[in-house]
Amino acid sequence: MHPFRFMGKGYIAMQHKRYVAAANIVPATPDMIARAGAMIAEGRLVAFPTETVYGLGGDATNGHAVAAIFAAKGRPSINPLIVHVPGVAYAQEHAIFDARAEELATRFWPGPLTLILKRKPGSPVCDLVTAGLDSIAIRVPSHPVARALLSAAGGPIAAPSANRSGRVSATTAIHVAEELGARADMILAAGKTTLGLESTILDLSGAYPTLLRPGAVSADEISTIIGEIAVAEGNPDRPNAPGQLRRHYAPATKLRLNAAMADPGEALLAFGPDPFAGRLAKRVLNLSQTGDLHEAAANLFAMLRTLDAGGYRGIAVMSIPYVGLGIAINDRLQRAAAPADDGAEGGEHG
Ligand code: TXA
Ligand code: MG
Repeated sequence: MHPFRFMGKGYIAMQHKRYVAAANIVPATPDMIARAGAMIAEGRLVAFPTETVYGLGGDATNGHAVAAIFAAKGRPSINPLIVHVPGVAYAQEHAIFDARAEELATRFWPGPLTLILKRKPGSPVCDLVTAGLDSIAIRVPSHPVARALLSAAGGPIAAPSANRSGRVSATTAIHVAEELGARADMILAAGKTTLGLESTILDLSGAYPTLLRPGAVSADEISTIIGEIAVAEGNPDRPNAPGQLRRHYAPATKLRLNAAMADPGEALLAFGPDPFAGRLAKRVLNLSQTGDLHEAAANLFAMLRTLDAGGYRGIAVMSIPYVGLGIAINDRLQRAAAPADDGAEGGEHG
């Protein structure tokens, strides 16, 4: 019997105000985290919050568990997963650290930075996690629930974002349940994630350090520590990180970026205090009334989901400045706005 059959307190608000029980959502109490850790150790899948987005976690050393992650997401197995560990000493069991990696880990871990490093021979992480590459993506999350889960599970946790492949990442437990339903054996709920965008990915496995995905740790902050880095142009046909696929974080409704105002029939995803931009809109959500980029990043995926569910003709998105976190926000918006048949074919998209 499913051990959590009697614990279902979560309900998912579906479109059209229907409510569906999500029996696998549980509050992230110490007891539940302990159970979740045991489940991971048994090879089952647990969705959990991190400071960036929710992840779908499984034992990174268990091929069956990792295969189940790919199946749950509908993600092609050529697309590697990030391994989550409690600290740099654990990371060093799986990856080869040079001086740059050590300095970055010291400065940014725990936190929203994923490092791609050469894989260490003998690491027990299974090949499916790394998609057979000789590199490995690794990160040390700072979220207390993620950290407690890592210690309860007692081993490395492979965890992609807890969404179906090609869709917007989930920033609440309800959104995880909408995406994955019972494909996650358990969903640890701890509110809305604070950062709201996936981790920055820096590739240190090649000849030149390369930013594969912008995030809350900025390219400038990284450069301050290790000097100049390249920013991946991204070849949508041969992505190093599917974050590079042109269409990745994709709602079904068409997005119109850098809009000054909404056209009739559109919804508006606003940014800043302009009271007129939404006057023709069917619905207006504001990423940040005060123009705060951190607030905007934290709201982005949830608001895209809400507007996408409304069945509008389109979603007009006001322009977001290309500074600081605005770079990562614009990156996600551009991918979400790319035409559906462009770059999305045959690839996992996260
Ligand atoms: O914030 C995050 O990073 C979240 C939370 C749950 O930790 N995770 C996440 O995982 O965003 P995912 O699978 O959605 O995105 C991981 C990205 C993918 O684009 C994948 O291709 C890339 O990391 N990646 C993983 N291993 C890689 C490797 N060895 N070389 C290049 N890219 C890699
Ligand atoms: Mg993803």
